[in-house]
Amino acid sequence: MSIKPHGGKLINRTNLSSNIDLSLNHVELDSMELSDLELIANGAYSPLEGFMGKADYYSVVHNMRLENGIPWSIPITLAVDEWKMAEIKEGDTINLVQNDIVYGTMIIKEKFKPDKYIEAEWVYQTTDLNHPGVKKLFERPDFYLSGPITLLRKPEKIMFPTYYVDPIKTREKFKELGWKTIVGFQTRNPVHRAHEYIQKSALEIVDGLFLNPLVGETKSDDIPSEIRMKSYQILLENYYPKHRVFLSVFPAAMRYAGPREAIFHAIVRKNFGCTHFIVGRDHAGVGNYYGTYDSQKIFSNFDEDELGIEPLFFEHSFYCKQCENMASKKTCPHESEHHVILSGTKVREMLKKGEHPPKEFSRPEVVKTLIEGLNEAYILH
Ligand code: ADX
Repeated sequence: MSIKPHGGKLINRTNLSSNIDLSLNHVELDSMELSDLELIANGAYSPLEGFMGKADYYSVVHNMRLENGIPWSIPITLAVDEWKMAEIKEGDTINLVQNDIVYGTMIIKEKFKPDKYIEAEWVYQTTDLNHPGVKKLFERPDFYLSGPITLLRKPEKIMFPTYYVDPIKTREKFKELGWKTIVGFQTRNPVHRAHEYIQKSALEIVDGLFLNPLVGETKSDDIPSEIRMKSYQILLENYYPKHRVFLSVFPAAMRYAGPREAIFHAIVRKNFGCTHFIVGRDHAGVGNYYGTYDSQKIFSNFDEDELGIEPLFFEHSFYCKQCENMASKKTCPHESEHHVILSGTKVREMLKKGEHPPKEFSRPEVVKTLIEGLNEAYILH
């Protein structure tokens, strides 16, 4: 039997055969909201059935729980300007639109003005506008609309369309593969040796790895998803057993909310059918806003049962030249001068200059794909 979705049942708010009523008032979605719409509709955000109302929103912000007590750590909201809010009444049905295409509808339950400082302080632990998640929060319009949604049309997948797999399908796939225990892996980066090491350590104890890179909106200096996708494919072809890994994408936007986002990432992967979830060092972090292991510590706020997915925590891992192996402080006795550790920023700088990070840091095939991809992107833009 597969793992239960969060809240007990997989939500489905998709109705692709329903007629579109162009006479309805409409709200323009940004790319984060459009991906959230799809992820609510396909059940990845179960038990959410729409954008959050005031009670759920404040309960999530302050207590990391929906109003009914179910754990949830990140507000999922639809933001509009004051003039748009004034046009819409509670009880109205509105179209959810991007670039003149209607993707869904929402029945308006509530309109409210959030306190963004509180949201920033509680969810991001900072109000600093240099934090990309906080910057985005304050740039969004000032009012939130809530209510149940229906997805009428799926956003078109131009890049790697076959790698978008809904939770109902990933669950079927895991069953078909005969996997009972599945570890989810979130990433917004290419898979380097440290990522590979923790994934494979987990694979020693579970049946399958669900490699689920986030491909929604990320900050501009993160490596674009289309380049990363090629590098994942190359890596899997060359270094992973074929029948123990399933690769598909997570279209959400990155919030960079560190610990809060680690809980959110785990819950979503549970909805995709995972029983375990990897949380390494500074999961979903950015800059120096969070402590190295804060994203692991936050799990102690929840009972295992109520979260329903088991986190697998990993120490900061590196290549040790003395051990001639990947390792962490838990397994390596040598001084840090023997360790190959590069920051993500440093690696991106090297790649952009066409320089090859050492093979102890990243597989040569991966480096080659990334350099080619970045060169192409550079030429094209
Ligand atoms: S994240 O924003 O998606 O978390 P990243 O893609 O770097 O960023 O990380 C993916 C996962 O690998 C996270 O769980 C992160 O904690 C873990 N991780 C990344 N690098 C290391 C490392 N050197 N040692 C241990 N865990 C790591």
